[in-house]
Amino acid sequence: MTFQDVDQDLTTDVLIIGAGAAGIRTAVALKQAGVDCLLVSKREFGDAHTKMAAGGINASLGNLDPEDRWEIHAADTLKEGHFVNDPKAVELVCKNAPQAIEELAQWGCPFNTTEEGKINQRFFGAQSFRRTCYVGDHTGKAILDTLVQKAKDMGIKCLDGKYVFELLKENNKIIGALALDQKEKQLIRFASKYTVIAAAGYASIYSRSSSRKDENLGDAMRLALRAGAKLKDMEMVQFHPTGMVKPEEYEGKLVTEAVRGEGGHLLNADGKRFMENYSPEMMELDARDEVARAIAKEIAKGNGTEDKGVFLDISHKEEDFIKKKLPDMYERFESLGINIAEKAMEVAPTSHYSMGGLVIDFENGYTGVPGLYAVGEAACGLHGANRLGGNSLIETVVLGKLTGEGLSRKILEESSEQKNNSVKEKNFKPSSFPWQTQPEEIIEEIKLLMWEHAGIIRTEENLNNGLQKLEEIEIGMKENAVEAKSLDFQIKWKNLDLFTVLEVSKLVVKAAKERKESRGAHYRDDFPDKSEDWKVNLIWGLDEEGGLQMQKAEIPSISKKVQEALDEGHSLDYHQLE
Ligand code: FUM
Repeated sequence: MTFQDVDQDLTTDVLIIGAGAAGIRTAVALKQAGVDCLLVSKREFGDAHTKMAAGGINASLGNLDPEDRWEIHAADTLKEGHFVNDPKAVELVCKNAPQAIEELAQWGCPFNTTEEGKINQRFFGAQSFRRTCYVGDHTGKAILDTLVQKAKDMGIKCLDGKYVFELLKENNKIIGALALDQKEKQLIRFASKYTVIAAAGYASIYSRSSSRKDENLGDAMRLALRAGAKLKDMEMVQFHPTGMVKPEEYEGKLVTEAVRGEGGHLLNADGKRFMENYSPEMMELDARDEVARAIAKEIAKGNGTEDKGVFLDISHKEEDFIKKKLPDMYERFESLGINIAEKAMEVAPTSHYSMGGLVIDFENGYTGVPGLYAVGEAACGLHGANRLGGNSLIETVVLGKLTGEGLSRKILEESSEQKNNSVKEKNFKPSSFPWQTQPEEIIEEIKLLMWEHAGIIRTEENLNNGLQKLEEIEIGMKENAVEAKSLDFQIKWKNLDLFTVLEVSKLVVKAAKERKESRGAHYRDDFPDKSEDWKVNLIWGLDEEGGLQMQKAEIPSISKKVQEALDEGHSLDYHQLE
């Protein structure tokens, strides 16, 4: 194929880009309503990023702590999101969470249970009660397997190995998409009445990341921005406190928060439990932003290990307890010659999740661009400036269901049976890109630069230098551009990653420069305090000429019920774990 020729045309009512939990749950809702839909994914069906989520999924079931209720879940989410969350999203997710867990259990998700047979719940950072339901320490995989099986049982189609790189628009409406097809090495053109972006986030634009190298590069954000959608709070990137340090091929890989939730201690190189100096009230179970920064500071003070890590120790617990609660961690470290029942793990912060993303209305996932919807990590709002562990998995299933149901209602109300065929008639051509012969090298350069210039601790000067380097890379790419037809398929595929990483990285740096305060995961050493003036969302879009535009948006108000729960002043008491 040359890059210009469309090899295959496919038509569906709803095209869902991404087959993680959010995409599949949307598809299940559509299919249940009898609506035609098609999932497309880059990876093999069942191998989405969801499976990397480890420690659990939140719902105020109150199985261990009966005082818990959805309003307190909402209050914790807002407080730890530093009040730039969308209160409506928070309410919808927390209120519907218990029912979503019940549904997953009914569909066969093998949640760990208590002796009385109730779904078990563990502590997770900065949550007032034990509300994180889990399947050992592979909860995401168990949920994804359950949803994949459900989709297969229902006959939902998933085309995998497809890289959607451009949305097609006519009269301001999204009417389809273009994708590279890994299997047939061809270009596919999709025609759809509606398109749902469920293509996750951008945590992997950093060199140390808990995502796999080629996922979570920001596809959703690039596609949406170019299609006219708005992005919000792109500076908000979550650094998980505990990623692996070595061996090299494991660098950044997640060491689940469940280790701390089950009583693990963080120790510096001298064996001191240093969280006493940073967060004596909540210790290791403070919010992720606090713990990640504490670790970064402890290492910067010279109290870290030779490999710039600290230790995470659970060896004071019984081996059988560890094997039962943290089976994957036990096995992974055992395969590397470390018995975590005897020896501490070496860890350091790693880029883990992007709170920023597409602006949507939360009842339907609508982006404001006709025909275009979004769900899951692709969308922004639930988590504010800092996500609670276990809240991303619950978001995927609650909002996936609502998005699918909302779209079904809309489609079923529409009288026309007609499929959207204008895509074929229009003969859309892909955009032109500055194709490179060695895209992977440039991607790695950008990721390192992002870690160095827009990481856990940021300053104006460092961000400016980072932006300048990104702009130099972009100029170099334009100067060295080659014809797409001269490149083999795999290199074209990697180039698409490069265009995304560059565009999204620039946006993250610009947004981080813009927000002149510290809030949640966004920490500015030159503006170390939180400011009321910045209790706003930063909304980004393209103007008529394709230039970036930024606007501040006020945060909607919190409902009375949730405000009451906030006023009750609940918080986590880590002593229960000692
Ligand atoms: O640490 C973890 O298990 C991660 C969970 C999450 O990000 O929700």
